[in-house]
Parts: sequence; C-alpha cells; structure tokens
Amino acid sequence: MHVFITGGTGLIGSAVVAELLGNGHTVLALARSDASALAAEAAGAEPLRGGLADLDILRTGVAQADGVIHLAFGNDFSSAEAVGRSVGEEGAALAALGEVLLGSDRPLVTVSGTPYAPGRPSTEADPLPTDGIVGGRGRSVTAALALAEHGVRSTAVRMPRTVHHNGTGGFAGLLTQIARRTGVSGYPGDGLQRWPAVHALDAAVLFRLALEQAPAGTSWHAVADEGDRVRDIAAVIGRRLGLPVEPQPAETYGPLGAIFATDQPSSSAHTQQALGWKPTRPGLLEDLENLEP
Ligand SMILES: NC(=O)c1ccc[n+]([C@@H]2O[C@H](COP(=O)([O-])OP(=O)(O)OC[C@H]3O[C@@H](n4cnc5c(N)ncnc54)[C@H](OP(=O)(O)O)[C@@H]3O)[C@@H](O)[C@H]2O)c1
Repeated sequence: MHVFITGGTGLIGSAVVAELLGNGHTVLALARSDASALAAEAAGAEPLRGGLADLDILRTGVAQADGVIHLAFGNDFSSAEAVGRSVGEEGAALAALGEVLLGSDRPLVTVSGTPYAPGRPSTEADPLPTDGIVGGRGRSVTAALALAEHGVRSTAVRMPRTVHHNGTGGFAGLLTQIARRTGVSGYPGDGLQRWPAVHALDAAVLFRLALEQAPAGTSWHAVADEGDRVRDIAAVIGRRLGLPVEPQPAETYGPLGAIFATDQPSSSAHTQQALGWKPTRPGLLEDLENLEP
C-alpha cells in the first residue's frame, strides 16, 4: 500500500515508517519543517510539507494514498490551554482525513489511548473517556471510528501511558524530564498506581497489522506491560540519574497530575489473540536502564 502518515517523524511514527517500509509498503509523510522533511526522506519516506492545521494539504495527502495512519499531536502539556489547542487541532485534522476516505473502504488507522477501568485492567471493549483534559481526543477518535458506517475502514490503536524506545518517551519520559529539571526522581501519590507500557517497535507492528487487516470500527491495545508501578519506574530513573526518589504533590505534574495519580492497568489479550500480535521487545523497566545521567 502507499500509506500517508502524520507524525511519521516522532518516537512512534518513525518506528511505524520503518515497519511499513520493511514490509513492502511505501510512505508519504506529513512534515511541518525542513528538518522533519529531511528526517522523513532519510528514513525512506516521501515528505509532504505541511502541518496538522493545513487541512487542504492533509486532503492532498489522503487523495494520493491507499491508506492513512494518523499519529501527529502537539505534545505541549505545560497548561490545560495548550493541551486544549492541540486537541482541537487534532480533531479538525482527523475529520479532514476521514472526509476524503468516505465510501472508499480504504483504511484510516488513528492513534488513541488505553481507557481507565476502575478496579481492573481495561480492555478493547471499554469505551474511551470523553471528559477530562484529553476527553476531546476520545470524541475525535470515536467520530473517526463511526466512519466505519460510511465506507471507511477506520480503526484505533490505543497506546498505553508510556511508549518507549531506548529509555525515552511517554509518561515515564516526562518523569525523567522532571527529574532532570528538579534533581528529584518523583512520583505522585503512594506510587503504587500502575501504568501500562509498550516498546515503540512493538507498537509499530500493531499499527501495520491494523492497517493491513483490522475490520472497520475496531479498537486495539498496544500493551506489552499490563501495569508497572510508578514507584518502580521512578526508582530506576533515580538510580540511573543518581537522584533521590521521593513522592511529590500532584501539582508537580501540572494538568497531568490527576491522570498521573490514577491506577490504570490495561490488557491486550484480545488484540494478541485476534490479530496475532506478540510484543517481543524489552519492557519499560528494562528499557529505562538505557538512561544516561
Ligand atoms: N509516546 C507515548 O508514550 C504515547 C502514549 C500515548 C499516546 N501517544 C500518542 O501517540 C502519538 C505519537 O506520539 P509520539 O510519542 O511518537 O510523539 P512525538 O515523538 O512527540 O512525535 C509527534 C509527531 O507529531 C508531529 N507533529 C506534532 N505537531 C504537529 C503539527 N502541528 N503538524 C504536523 N506534525 C506535527 C511531530 O512532527 P515534528 O517531527 O516536526 O516535531 C512528530 O512527527 C501522539 O498522538 C501521542 O499523543 C504517545
């Protein structure tokens, strides 16, 4: 397939591009800067210059493709307003991508997040949250999945809290950044809450499988570690960086404080069984051993 990808130069997207190219597909990658265009080209993709807000460029990209993978998101979590802007931009972009695919039966694979299910690991059957700070993302993904009724093979690959590669990425990556800035490897609450995780190279395989074979309107969990205790994550970060490991107030984590404090394990049993996906890369705690002071 000739695949149009947004976010193809990111931590997850660059793994997805490599996975696609290694399995006989070709890639057209949205690139918002010269540096991103060069990176896309170096990876073997054809760059298409433009940003998520350039809806006409997005439509041009989709028109040339047999399938679409959407991963781009402005990762500024510094304030609720900044997150809200990114959520709005993504919603409009996803709607534009879907519009061009109506009636074509072509695949649209969008990124999503694993939901929270009180007292148990969440599953692929649990609905996405549509309230709270990132609730708008849930509404955008739900709208994309509804295009299954209108001739789009739309699917969602749900990411755990940390998608990691060489010890960086996701919520654990944010904990590392805060530790470097503050000199303390902290965690919110008692640290017993669990976050699920996956290696980016394993997640990339699931994006390819969803693109190639997942039925319209379905959601999948890219979860390798069902749940790592946040205190254990902070302990590895502290040891690798030579910093003390201590609990911190929720405010330390800005608009993400409440999400950081939640126990939110997640399962991928259905995904593994139905799509034959099997994560094989190192788990988060092992991958964090790659951190350098
Ligand atoms: N990593 C995780 O643990 C994790 C967990 C859950 C969900 N996710 C989601 O998975 C997706 C990819 O995450 P990631 O970790 O790979 O992110 P990342 O490394 O920050 O990469 C973000 C990608 O999006 C592109 N991008 C951002 N804003 C854009 C805009 N306005 N126009 C065009 N391109 C734009 C970036 O382009 P440049 O290269 O030009 O910057 C980059 O290719 C995001 O939706 C993220 O929320 C990630």
